Amino acid sequence: MEHRAPPQKSLRFGIGLRREHFDDIADRLDEVDFLEFLPENFLRFGGRPSRVLREVAARVDVTSHGVSLSLGGPDPLNKTYLTELRTLLDELDTPWFSDHLSYSSAFGVEYHDLLPLPFTAEAVDHVVSRIQFAQDFIGRPLLVENPSYYMSYPDSELTEAEFVNEVVSRADCNLLLDVNNVYVNAQNHGYDARAFIAAMPADRVLQYHMAGHIQGDGFLVDTHSMPVRDEVMDLYRYTLETVGPAWTLLEWDHAIPSLDGMIAELSRIRETAASAHLAPGTLEVAA
Ligand SMILES: [Fe+2]
Repeated sequence: MEHRAPPQKSLRFGIGLRREHFDDIADRLDEVDFLEFLPENFLRFGGRPSRVLREVAARVDVTSHGVSLSLGGPDPLNKTYLTELRTLLDELDTPWFSDHLSYSSAFGVEYHDLLPLPFTAEAVDHVVSRIQFAQDFIGRPLLVENPSYYMSYPDSELTEAEFVNEVVSRADCNLLLDVNNVYVNAQNHGYDARAFIAAMPADRVLQYHMAGHIQGDGFLVDTHSMPVRDEVMDLYRYTLETVGPAWTLLEWDHAIPSLDGMIAELSRIRETAASAHLAPGTLEVAA
């Protein structure tokens, strides 16, 4: 099935559209290249959230980042949710939509958490068919995001990098590569973050996430409550040099700073990107 063609890979910088910033965001749109919104926060809400979303979407690109598709889950995909999402994305004309390579509900129970899939051939088959269905239903490119995870399955047959490649290639979808998640997972599960990044399907990466994490008791916790750590900035620079330019979003979901603070942190990300040595030929699309 034909989907709306994704824009060319390019280097752009955005933040999430958050209720905390509704008062000022319309006055600061020239300081961001795009905004990402959680459809679950807007789909069933009229009033101010709906007005602000439409106001900003008329002036900058917006991307949709969902948390409840449960692409890897056992229950049928929620057609009511997909239908509502399709209507909203058609109205806003988003370049793509994204959700996670994980599951968040099973057997009718909503976990309010993004749980990892086993890295098995069976899980690939299962999630590929669901990604294809969702992508065809919405009619726009679907970007799946690599989640952070704190448990692993003894029956995994593939590495995480192999699993991601297999899913993205067979589903013919795109990838939202969360650089902080790669860093956190690599530390927690003992693999090389740069080797993981280098193994990603570069042509399919249309978006990056950058976020902060904290040191837990013996492991890192992906909290989205902090500035981006310098180690993750370094990994982002390596990612740009290895995978290439892509829309880059600062994720901040807890202890959210003022819009000034968000834009200042976004500037740090821009400066890191400016210090990257992009391969010849990618600078044109970065303009
Ligand atoms: Fe993310």
